[in-house]
Amino acid sequence: MNKIFNEDVLLGIDKIEDDSIDLILTDPPYCLGKDYGNDSDQKSSEEYLKWTYRWIDAVLPKLKKNGSFYIFLSWQYSPEIFVYLKNKLRMVNEIIWDRRVPSMGGSTRKFSSVHDNIGFFVKSNNYYFDIDSIRIPYDEETKKARTRSIFVGKKWLEIGYNPKDLWSTSRIHAQAPERENHPTQKPLEIIERMVKASCPKNGMVFDPFMGTGTTAIACLANDKQYVGFEINKDYHKIIMDRIKKYNNCPTLFQQQSQKQSNLTQDIQSQPCMVFYKRTNPN
Ligand SMILES: C[S@@+](CC[C@H](N)C(=O)[O-])C[C@H]1O[C@@H](n2cnc3c(N)ncnc32)[C@H](O)[C@@H]1O
Repeated sequence: MNKIFNEDVLLGIDKIEDDSIDLILTDPPYCLGKDYGNDSDQKSSEEYLKWTYRWIDAVLPKLKKNGSFYIFLSWQYSPEIFVYLKNKLRMVNEIIWDRRVPSMGGSTRKFSSVHDNIGFFVKSNNYYFDIDSIRIPYDEETKKARTRSIFVGKKWLEIGYNPKDLWSTSRIHAQAPERENHPTQKPLEIIERMVKASCPKNGMVFDPFMGTGTTAIACLANDKQYVGFEINKDYHKIIMDRIKKYNNCPTLFQQQSQKQSNLTQDIQSQPCMVFYKRTNPN
């Protein structure tokens, strides 16, 4: 399909067939008062939850029986929304996205909030999940450390480890190479991880709240199809320009994404080092 409608998802939802989507991947307004050129993030708590339940009910029938659903939220409303979704789907993970916010200033009357809560849900136990496509390679130091015979030839050391449910990836800051003119653009790296793991080759990904079209770019870069909505016409134009830019020069996006992921590579390789630094109990 590869289409993004400049329309309210609740008005346009009938354009998508029931049972046709492999992966719904979405990053809706969080109700934190952001300005998206509309009031979608400025509702009262009650209105926000009512609206959220409405769009969830509208999009879920589009998901295939072996499909998956990822939703970005913040701690303020994830408890209510996760409970609502758990009555309809099976919850597989809560992924914590640590945005790698630098320690400067911050709250003085509470702990500074530096994470988003991502819910990963499925429709049935028979869900698609390609772990090998998202393994994280071990660093050279760890590989060298496998001199003990029990590690020699171990497949997992060669193919990398599976990502944990804590994802430490820098947010898109003002000077980031990927940056578009949007207040809550998500890093391509983490959207790509979801798309690779939870959508088969040439499968269909649906994002009801496209923003700058990060989901569409992740699909183009990984042989998946996409469909989505974005209500704001300026953001819709950003998406169209971004897709055009990608189609003209896909390697530019790979380079940008690589630069972004270099910011956090050190952190990502730490868990495997812990494995080797066992302390001697004596
Ligand atoms: C959190 S942002 C998505 C950011 C996106 N993940 C990215 O990486 O750029 C949410 C988007 O939903 C859009 N939106 C809000 N209400 C909508 C609606 N009813 N239908 C379609 N889009 C809507 C907003 O304009 C905003 O751009």
